[in-house]
Amino acid sequence: MRKKIIAGNWKMNHGPVEAEKFAKELKNYDLDDEVISIIFPPAINLPILKDKLTISLGAQNMYFEDSGAFTGEISGDMILEAGGEYVIIGHSERRQVFGETDEIINKKVKKAVEIGLKPILCCGENLEEREEEKHQERIESQIRSGLKGLSKEDLENLVIAYEPIWAIGTGKTASSEDAEEMCAFIRELVGKLYDEDTAEKLLIQYGGSVNPENIKKILAKDNIDGALVGGASLKAESFQELVNFKMN
Ligand code: PGA
Repeated sequence: MRKKIIAGNWKMNHGPVEAEKFAKELKNYDLDDEVISIIFPPAINLPILKDKLTISLGAQNMYFEDSGAFTGEISGDMILEAGGEYVIIGHSERRQVFGETDEIINKKVKKAVEIGLKPILCCGENLEEREEEKHQERIESQIRSGLKGLSKEDLENLVIAYEPIWAIGTGKTASSEDAEEMCAFIRELVGKLYDEDTAEKLLIQYGGSVNPENIKKILAKDNIDGALVGGASLKAESFQELVNFKMN
């Protein structure tokens, strides 16, 4: 049985003061400890949250070099040192707003795995690709290039998030059937690229307008092991509702 994994991506929201407030509020709730729960704050908050929270933490991005003259970037080792265990790689906002290519994303995934940081590799099609029924083709190419050069052992600590771009921050969730279809498609692809066992063990999340009201229906699907959540992860109360989805 695969575990469920709920990840809150704060994006560029909450500075240190808000992060501390969130941590204080989250302490008021018991979290289902059978669910892997992770907060991805702006990286500047990692040490504060490490000190105040017992759940896992991660960064929203990293650079693939170890150190040096790369103004504005942070390395994977810095994330580990600051208390991060996971890193989101290839989020659609990184791809679209910051021009990250499949090649850059693959370099980042490889570096993360090499140093023991667990990557959540994101993929997702845009509205046009969905309407033209090119979504599977798009996802296949993103997954193939994202995983290039990785062994099946490397995949033990890697998570894939399927996030259709048209569902992110729009309030327009993919239907649970569509989300399941794509997560199953990804699992099958990983089975072809590696083997059945690797595919069976892989954790695959859905992301895009997940909230406490719709999470249960989405996570009831066989191939959806969790959710990557933006907006609904910003408040402690709603984040705990996501993690405790079984009780709702
Ligand atoms: P959203 O964001 O939940 O606000 O749609 C999801 C994401 O970008 O990971």
